Amino acid sequence: MRRFTLTVLIFLAAALAFAAGPATNPVDRWQRVPPRDHARSNPLAATPETIAAGSQLYRTHCAQCHGPAALGDGRKHPSLRTDHVRSASDGDLEWFLRQGDLAHGMPSWSSLPPTQRWQLIAYLRSLP
Ligand code: HEC
Repeated sequence: MRRFTLTVLIFLAAALAFAAGPATNPVDRWQRVPPRDHARSNPLAATPETIAAGSQLYRTHCAQCHGPAALGDGRKHPSLRTDHVRSASDGDLEWFLRQGDLAHGMPSWSSLPPTQRWQLIAYLRSLP
């Protein structure tokens, strides 16, 4: 009986995960950011050097999913040139890069040095 219950629970969890599907741009993503993180701003000035470093990191780590021009692929991988991304604070983006969203295919970048995350954010901000 216990095993049956467990099987049912696992099945339900799998069904839920499936129903959640490849969610793109969940509108409430930035609402989930803890206030302290939300309030942080990029400690790096957006100099050409910072943006160039971010661009290099982007090509190494992000372009394979979000596309060489950060426009996404129109399917699973969202564009990063959206109002949704622009509406996020620097701290929201840094928090999300650390967390990732593995359930939906976005890796965590918590193993990058913080400076590199801020360079990436400066680069994203520089996109038209
Ligand atoms: C393996 C593929 C993959 C890689 C590599 C990847 N991402 Fe993502 N990213 C995703 C997916 C899939 C989503 C959507 C996740 C979701 O909707 O929950 C996402 C979402 C995002 C979002 C949120 C967009 C929004 O509108 O809410 C940002 C910002 C982001 N990625 C930035 C980056 C950056 C910067 C890098 C490189 C350091 C990166 N991603 C690398 C797959 C990837």
